[in-house]
Amino acid sequence: MVQRGMYVYAIDNGPMEPQLMKTGQIDHLKEDGFTWEPPQRLDWLVCDIVDKPVRVLAMVERWLIRKWCKEAIFNLKLPMKKRWEEVMRCLTALEESLEKAGVHATISCRHLFHDREEVTVHVRLRD
Ligand SMILES: C[S@@+](CC[C@H](N)C(=O)[O-])C[C@H]1O[C@@H](n2cnc3c(N)ncnc32)[C@H](O)[C@@H]1O
Repeated sequence: MVQRGMYVYAIDNGPMEPQLMKTGQIDHLKEDGFTWEPPQRLDWLVCDIVDKPVRVLAMVERWLIRKWCKEAIFNLKLPMKKRWEEVMRCLTALEESLEKAGVHATISCRHLFHDREEVTVHVRLRD
């Protein structure tokens, strides 16, 4: 994101790469990504937290329904068993909760790395 000229609130309990911090484009906050609220509306939410898909989804839904971002991209780390069922359950739940809140969005999902137990979901809010 920095390479693409963006300014980033990096919410991570862990350390940041010093070279990245030198760009001046990052505000690193050691806070909980599940509860942090942005100070103003942002363009993107990007999340790669390793946790239960249901927790990640609840956080992303909150951001989208409150229009804290226009687009979101996040990984869902999958359990060892019944991965397909879990992905379908998550995508259906996301679609339903956005619809219920009257939020129109385009959702897509890809398995980007054949050797990783995760899928990547992209959501773009429509007018
Ligand atoms: C899979 S790594 C993401 C790495 C990142 N995508 C990168 O390329 O450097 C997960 C990161 O989430 C952070 N993390 C885990 N739980 C978190 C939480 N509740 N709030 C904020 N950060 C969290 C960890 O410290 C770790 O840096």
